[in-house]
Amino acid sequence: MAEALDPKDTCVLVTGGAGFIGSHTVIELLQAGYEVVVVDDLSNASIIALDRIRQIVGDEAAARLTFYEDNILDRDAMNRIFAAHAVDRVIHFAGFKAVGESVKKPVEYYHNNIEGTLTLVDVMRQHGCKSIIFSSSSTVYGDPDKLPLTEESPKKTCTNPYGWTKWMIEQILTDIHAADPEWDVVLLRYFNPIGAHPSGLIGEDPKGIPNNLVPYVAQVAVGKLPAVQVFGDDYPTPDGTGVRDYIHVVDLAKGHVSALAWMNGKTGVEVFNLGTGTGSSVLDVIKAFSKACDKELPYVVKPRRGGDIAANWCDASKAEREMGWKAQYDLDDMCRDSWNWQSHNPNGFEG
Ligand code: WQD
Repeated sequence: MAEALDPKDTCVLVTGGAGFIGSHTVIELLQAGYEVVVVDDLSNASIIALDRIRQIVGDEAAARLTFYEDNILDRDAMNRIFAAHAVDRVIHFAGFKAVGESVKKPVEYYHNNIEGTLTLVDVMRQHGCKSIIFSSSSTVYGDPDKLPLTEESPKKTCTNPYGWTKWMIEQILTDIHAADPEWDVVLLRYFNPIGAHPSGLIGEDPKGIPNNLVPYVAQVAVGKLPAVQVFGDDYPTPDGTGVRDYIHVVDLAKGHVSALAWMNGKTGVEVFNLGTGTGSSVLDVIKAFSKACDKELPYVVKPRRGGDIAANWCDASKAEREMGWKAQYDLDDMCRDSWNWQSHNPNGFEG
């Protein structure tokens, strides 16, 4: 069973730690005093993010950061990493995450996300590490019958293989704990992560044309794309466009530090929604981003996107009650920081 440890005595392995949410979480972990080992194959991340993390946290904290360019599917590499570091906790971000791509490539998504997780947890248990925080998603709630979504809201049918991998990995980790109660599992269900570190040195850097709304809006704002495509304005929502619970990526990252402190020395399986509890429409986002960049952003209404739901937002009171965590930033803050990142890095990390 995992013993309770001080951050300075705790080694946290972060899979996918060079990615959007992973990199922001690594900063918060280092600033909280943890030793951090990042494993990332850089298939959807840039090595430059690691340099920017070191720049943000400074030399003392950066000395506690180790990076391995490896894939969690590589069992030998993972065994070498666990042999070299006394890993106490794992935060598992690594996985393919493009909804549309997952529909076209289900085999690749199930192999990478599911088999990667099974390899990871097998190596963990072989090295006596049974504490994991999993990067889950509000997508496991499917199309909700009732809002706001609480952790007791039913998991429903997912609309794409990406969502199913999140759904299934939650079940896999739950079954692992049922078979071996020494495991400690925290499932963090993210709503819609957006924004960027206030330094403007790291942020969301999708490859190709962004699938998600805010990075797409940001590229319109910086002139790389002509106009925002609004996927449907006939939903049963206040202005007809899709409503989501957008959460600042720094709030989300801090939620992981809160989860580490909360789970410290426990066993079991616990679910937390990480969102703001506020729903914002596509037009709300465009308006907030226009304010952030001080430009009117053009948009065109297009047909609904397949697989989209009308609305979701969460009740995040459990995380506040149990972990003392509550999102601090609002939509204007998120758009301000996203614009700061995008305007200083119009081509992302590749400059
Ligand atoms: C948000 C809203 C679209 C793009 C997914 C995953 C979730 C997480 C985030 C990975 C919707 C509308 C979008 C555009 C638009 N995954 N939209 N024009 O689909 O809520 O969530 O991505 O981290 O797990 O499920 O996010 O940003 O794609 O869409 O009008 O160009 O914006 O219809 O209403 P989504 P999104």
